[in-house]
Amino acid sequence: MADPSLIPNRYYLTTPIYYVNARPHLGHAYSTIVCDAIARHKRAQGIDTWFLTGTDEHGQKIERSAKLAGCTPQEFATKIAGEFRGLWDRLGLAYDDFIRTTEERHKRGVQHLFATLRDKGFIYKGYYTGQYCVSDEAWVEVPAGAPCPDCGRITETVSEENYFFKLSAFERKLLEFYEANPEFMGPESTRREVISFVRSGLKDLSVSRTSFSWGIPVPGDEKHVVYVWLDALANYITALGYGSDDPADKARFEKFWPADLHLIGKEISRFHCVYWPAFLMAAGIPVPRSVRANGWLLFDQGKMSKSRGNIVRAETVHTVLGSDALRYFLLREIPFGQDGNFSFDALVQRYNGDLANGYGNLVSRVVNMVHKYFDRVAPDAGEATPAEAALRTSSEAAIVAFCATFDELNFSEALKSLWALVAETDGYLTANAPWKKPTDRSDADHAKLQARVLATAAEAIRIITALVYPILPDAAAKVWRQLGQGEIADASKQAFLTKLAWGGLMAGTKFGEPAPLFPRAEKDAIDRMQNLEDENSRSAVEAAGGQEEIAAPVSAPAASSVAATSATTTAGARANAAVAPTTAAPIDPERPVETAHVHQVPAPLASSRLNSTPVAASAGAPLIPAEPAPATSESQQITIDDFVKVDLRVAQILVAERVPKADKLLRLEVDLGYEKRQILAGIAQYYEPEKLVGRKIVIVANLAPRKMRGLESNGMLLAASLEGGAPVLAGFLEDVPLGARLK
Ligand code: MSP
Repeated sequence: MADPSLIPNRYYLTTPIYYVNARPHLGHAYSTIVCDAIARHKRAQGIDTWFLTGTDEHGQKIERSAKLAGCTPQEFATKIAGEFRGLWDRLGLAYDDFIRTTEERHKRGVQHLFATLRDKGFIYKGYYTGQYCVSDEAWVEVPAGAPCPDCGRITETVSEENYFFKLSAFERKLLEFYEANPEFMGPESTRREVISFVRSGLKDLSVSRTSFSWGIPVPGDEKHVVYVWLDALANYITALGYGSDDPADKARFEKFWPADLHLIGKEISRFHCVYWPAFLMAAGIPVPRSVRANGWLLFDQGKMSKSRGNIVRAETVHTVLGSDALRYFLLREIPFGQDGNFSFDALVQRYNGDLANGYGNLVSRVVNMVHKYFDRVAPDAGEATPAEAALRTSSEAAIVAFCATFDELNFSEALKSLWALVAETDGYLTANAPWKKPTDRSDADHAKLQARVLATAAEAIRIITALVYPILPDAAAKVWRQLGQGEIADASKQAFLTKLAWGGLMAGTKFGEPAPLFPRAEKDAIDRMQNLEDENSRSAVEAAGGQEEIAAPVSAPAASSVAATSATTTAGARANAAVAPTTAAPIDPERPVETAHVHQVPAPLASSRLNSTPVAASAGAPLIPAEPAPATSESQQITIDDFVKVDLRVAQILVAERVPKADKLLRLEVDLGYEKRQILAGIAQYYEPEKLVGRKIVIVANLAPRKMRGLESNGMLLAASLEGGAPVLAGFLEDVPLGARLK
């Protein structure tokens, strides 16, 4: 245990604030749970801790999502922010503050920061034309029409009068800062990436937008809204009271800033390690002490995310196994900083192995025996033999090892070492078998052995429980009561970790009632979790009137979500996703594009969820039934013979015009090289017809002709669907001949 006088007395940590265009899933829960565990650990060390989380509610994609949902951005944001907060509360996450970027306190702080940067000469006005990734809310340096290098979605060419932040002035300062503060960012891979990004040269950064209005107005020039990342990053200071004149806010800001830890997903390192410190340096505000990136939670071989459609909800695991099980799994299974796979199988295995059969079983054996043999009163251990001395030494070493590795955020190692103590205590109990009296042992000797062994094992359990409390808060609270120690939350307030030492369990302490901690998960646990996910997807679809996004498989790591409204078959839609380099999908001209946006309907069987690509279906679409996936994983796959039935071809748009009295339809004439034909596409709300002429696209060429508004459509376009549902036509970076087949 570190010398308490050397431990700083306050600690401020934050999660990223989550976009409200997606419902919370396990990926979001992961970062928040990690922060919650750290916050609990710090509090138990007597450190005055402030744990902030919240939601990121401005920007074009939220504006678009709200439009699709038929409500105002504010209503939309309030609904999803409520879902995040509600889930964090149900999971028992003990944050101190939850900030929403639409709150007045945040708006005031952001405007203050913007004005400060402008007054200090770090923000100026200019013009910018470039490629903008709407999904990432970031400018990217790629040619017009090319995909975003980070998320793979097609970028948009945007030209705007903008305010610029003089990021270029911070290149050297940032490199010097990284050099002088090697602890500032981690893990090492993040540090290397960030340094090489800065070394490659920093350009000034556009920090306002005029192309949409859902944001915080630039003070004094209200046709601009503040760039969402400047807006979002500022949450870390506005939540403390930055920009407020209220003395209580000022005091909180003074007390907790700079942050000790910004915990983030690795994909947003550049924003936190480059832009954020630069903004702060420019404003004359101290920079945070550290930024640490967690790796990605993967599911079905891809980063768990809404746009990939491969999500699992924390709620599901919480309902079936409890939130402690989820916390333990995430922290034990995934070495912090690395990517890790989530699967229901692995979760249940860990749960049964480490929690039900491991810690839970050990506690239950010892507490029950103290009840049975000592009328629930902790016995006096008496004189230690070498066996007790060994367990004591191991326990003392575990305290040091656990705290050291936990403080390095190496949770997986910390738990591994602690579970070695669980196993050792279990082995000690078994070796001494206090429940078995050999015939040659006197009653008095046996009673002594029972007292010694049970008191010693109970003391080891007390130490394990105190250490594991930040990770298993519910279970630890129960065990603490069973050991007669009272409320662990109260003990934590008394900084019990700083005093944790062998010998704290006093003889004569009255134990509480034994109660099950982790009932063994039976085989049906996986099916139950699976069914909950399926039910949730179905009810989300129904609640959205059949317009909720539904399953779409994703083939490539950089793939976008796939709008699978193929008029052929589910297999056809899947084939499209598998072949098109930008994972495109057909746009069905008969349906408004809004209803064509799809996301994942999880396959009903555990086996299929764990091993195969989820099924694609389309909600409310006339062409693909909104039924759950077929029941077996085999039936969700297609053979190459199925795939080749779909004739995907490169075509060029020769003519594009609106169809009179049809808001959503465009009439296109396309050239396939070997023939020209007419196609009707439901993209009129998203594409200006004149801008489409000359573009090379991908079409499903062998779709049976259909009539709409008296016009015949011969084929279907492929497009990726952005998170809000807007289509992005599939295209090519290289020159491709007309009529070329995609296979
Ligand atoms: N709003 C921005 C962050 C602004 S912070 C000033 C954003 N939001 S997000 O909703 O996309 O959430 C991002 C964070 O959620 C990630 O940085 C990460 O912490 C967490 N995760 C979301 N999906 C995740 C996984 N699949 N795996 C691990 N963490 C994940 O980016």
